[in-house]
Amino acid sequence: MTKIMAPMKARTVPALFVLCMLASACSVAGPAPTPEGHELFQLCSQCHGPTAAGNRAVNAPEIAGLPQWYIEAQLKKFKQGGRGTHFDDLTGMQMRPMAMSLATDAEIAVVSEYVSKLPVVKPAAELKDGNAEHGKTLFATCLACHGPQAGGMEAMKAPPLNHASDWYLFASLKKFKAGIRGTNPLDVSGATMRPMSQTLVDEQAMKDVIAHIGTLQQ
Ligand code: HEC
Ligand code: HEC
Repeated sequence: MTKIMAPMKARTVPALFVLCMLASACSVAGPAPTPEGHELFQLCSQCHGPTAAGNRAVNAPEIAGLPQWYIEAQLKKFKQGGRGTHFDDLTGMQMRPMAMSLATDAEIAVVSEYVSKLPVVKPAAELKDGNAEHGKTLFATCLACHGPQAGGMEAMKAPPLNHASDWYLFASLKKFKAGIRGTNPLDVSGATMRPMSQTLVDEQAMKDVIAHIGTLQQ
């Protein structure tokens, strides 16, 4: 049975506590509501890094250069509780209060636009034992939505994968397959991804397809 948590305040307290511990952001007493992207981004940079290239130590993925439509959709989903509410989604629960701190859709749009314009930083590979040749075969299932170069397709609501860190792709695929992501009734686009994750029979298959994605051009 999938356990979905209703959005509730009690859960945000430990997550904010974690933020304080991880990112020494205790001094940021909630971001000042402002329409200016750079200013809103100061909170994000605590975990995602000053160039939004991600920070492995706090499991924050690269978000620089993701399309604005995807960033906006995810921030709204986190805020509304469609992502980051499953009891086993520890990293999603760290992100959720951050999205909740964005007071309005206008703020979400402004910070999303800012992040989308930051230059992509291709992250170094971390997973070692993926077989890209086998992964290429597996990727045939993915390209209908993510595109032939994994550059993403807005019409399918499928994000680019070709500049994501391999560790984040791996963690995300495991979450989808385990039903930790993509099972919340509010997560309509995640629900289209979940059965796709189930076509990858084991973790080796996930590593293989990720190794292939790592060879694709941006
Ligand atoms: C407390 C650390 C922290 C802060 C601060 C933070 N994030 Fe995150 N963010 C994360 C983590 C951890 C994840 C990964 C969630 C997961 O594993 O599903 C994440 C995921 C995301 C994603 C989803 C990326 C994807 O590919 O689906 C977006 C978009 C995002 N953050 C944007 C932001 C923005 C914009 C801000 C500032 C308003 C922000 N984050 C602030 C930790 C943080
Ligand atoms: C039917 C369309 C579809 C297919 C086919 C598909 N995906 Fe997805 N995928 C999506 C959508 C939509 C999302 C965004 C989910 C969301 O909104 O959270 C997604 C998200 C993802 C993510 C998370 C990215 C992030 O930034 O958090 C990964 C990783 C991923 N897909 C990998 C794959 C792989 C590997 C395959 C092939 C085995 C695949 N997808 C096939 C639609 C698809």
